[in-house]
Amino acid sequence: MKKDIDYNNLPEHIAIIMDGNGRWAKKRMLPHSAGHKAGSETLKAIVEEAEKIGIKYITVYAFSTENWDRPKEEVDYLMNLMDEFLTDNLSASKKNNYKIQIIGQRQRLRKDLQDKIKKLELNTKDKKGINLIIAISYGGRDEIARAVKEISRQVVKGAIQLDRIDEALVARYLDTKDIKDPDLLIRTSGEQRTSNFLIWQSAYSELYFSDKLWPDFNAEDLKTAIVDYQSRERRFGGR
Ligand code: IPE
Ligand code: IPE
Ligand code: MG
Repeated sequence: MKKDIDYNNLPEHIAIIMDGNGRWAKKRMLPHSAGHKAGSETLKAIVEEAEKIGIKYITVYAFSTENWDRPKEEVDYLMNLMDEFLTDNLSASKKNNYKIQIIGQRQRLRKDLQDKIKKLELNTKDKKGINLIIAISYGGRDEIARAVKEISRQVVKGAIQLDRIDEALVARYLDTKDIKDPDLLIRTSGEQRTSNFLIWQSAYSELYFSDKLWPDFNAEDLKTAIVDYQSRERRFGGR
């Protein structure tokens, strides 16, 4: 018999690498963009389900620093989808309970997107529902490099003493500074790599790989991943 979720042992933070949109479209002889469109619908459904289950934080990988190298047409399509997502959530932000944050190189995004992000973060900052964190133009290495740069600036200024630099301080200079590390990291589409996602934060995350392509990933699959997570013994290097 299939096991049920133990609601007393939920992962507080789930991170998801939403992969497989292109293959999903290809299988249907549709353009790549149709896969991204379907993937954005899946995202809505999965966030809703995660909130229903009682997950506190969900971070999704929407666009990596490497994804800028894709054809311009695809990049533009993805940015327009992002625009749509921000606009929808802005108009829903009165009735919705999501607290939304964006991580990544936001200065690299279109100016109108940057403005919408600012507004959405402001409008939802006191929300008590699920924390939805969207990684756009995000790369773990870039995030760490930016943190190193900022910490160095503070050291040069004399605001931070060299001896005070430790893991906790570095973590405070990452985009995820107020967010607990992910407990569970899910990747869809059968690929088993992290592709530069939350490389600092996932040091002790439990990894779960699903063969489903992202547009096909559903509420049941999310529950299966959580049940699997609950069967793991997390040791954090201890005895
Ligand atoms: C994931 O789908 C979404 C993004 C990377 C933006 P892909 O577009 O990578 O889909 P596949 O991996 O080609 O199937
Ligand atoms: C990772 O998927 C990035 C996102 C899901 C946004 P990719 O499809 O870009 O990763 P690789 O190229 O397979 O490693
Ligand atoms: Mg991919």
